[in-house]
Amino acid sequence: MDLEAIRSLASTDMATVDRLIQDRLRSDVVLINQLGSYIINSGGKRLRPMLVVLSARACGYGQGEDHALLAAVIEFIHTATLLHDDVVDNSDMRRGRDTANHIWGNQASVLVGDFLYSRSFEMMVELQEMTVMSVLSTATTTIAAGEVMQLMNVNDPDVTEERYLEVIYRKTAALFEAGCRLGAFLSGADEASQDAMARYGRHLGTAFQLIDDVLDYDGNPEEIGKNIGDDLAEGKPTLPLLRAMQTGSAEQAALIREAIETGGLERIKEVHAAVENSGAIAYTRRLAHDEADRAIECLRCLPNSEYKEALTGLARFAVERHS
Ligand code: IPE
Ligand code: IPE
Ligand code: MG
Ligand code: MG
Repeated sequence: MDLEAIRSLASTDMATVDRLIQDRLRSDVVLINQLGSYIINSGGKRLRPMLVVLSARACGYGQGEDHALLAAVIEFIHTATLLHDDVVDNSDMRRGRDTANHIWGNQASVLVGDFLYSRSFEMMVELQEMTVMSVLSTATTTIAAGEVMQLMNVNDPDVTEERYLEVIYRKTAALFEAGCRLGAFLSGADEASQDAMARYGRHLGTAFQLIDDVLDYDGNPEEIGKNIGDDLAEGKPTLPLLRAMQTGSAEQAALIREAIETGGLERIKEVHAAVENSGAIAYTRRLAHDEADRAIECLRCLPNSEYKEALTGLARFAVERHS
């Protein structure tokens, strides 16, 4: 199923999600409204909330709006992490526009990020399910730890592939994992199906971040709506660089080692060439494809339905995307 068909299948649920998002974004504090609507309405893909509602539907979700409320919670958490992440990463473009920190400054971004986090916890309490609160509080702790772990890795070219994979699980895949698990939970699926959906989300989220890291070297800024080279500028040891150090020539390895240690974009052209020629981009993409295949395997426990096909399609999209 292609992305357009998937979006159309989820459109009624996603309209509910959007209404809830707009409703719950509101505050009596002007700056929260301004900055909050700026980031929320700036055209993100809404991939995570879509995964939540589709996971619920694929597991036979019945009536009500709980699944949409959960999806809105997940999007709020995601948005909060983006506000914080752009401060930490010093990024000035997101979703094709200036970042909130670029416009309102770091302080406002951090604080409104905190607001969105806290609001998401208020909303999840409304679901009155201890499982939801337990899974999501664990997920947010995991994400925060992942971001700190990543900070510790900055400028360190000796980070292992294993440690890199641990970071991307924590900072990105954990939220996908939680959303898909809870979509299944809310529809009354049994434990085995909840576990399978959690694994689906984890593999998909890992594939998604691997491709995000590829796109930072191999993407088109017009399409991804972010600056290319942000990771290199920050001295982030992502897999394309780590792999190129292993398989490239001694000269290429030394070049990349120094680029990670110092950060900055002075030699970005040479680094790009080394990453490309050493096969590191192809390697990272291959890993992402393997993860997407594993995600799709996990869907075998579901009965056949158009929702299951949509989930399969989203796993493919995660690796084939250009944006
Ligand atoms: C960006 O996520 C952060 C990552 C985990 C790579 P998305 O690419 O899903 O961001 P939006 O919501 O579509 O802007
Ligand atoms: C994703 O990492 C960060 C979060 C999970 C918040 P990145 O730093 O690679 O995300 P982008 O590239 O800024 O969207
Ligand atoms: Mg970033
Ligand atoms: Mg990135």
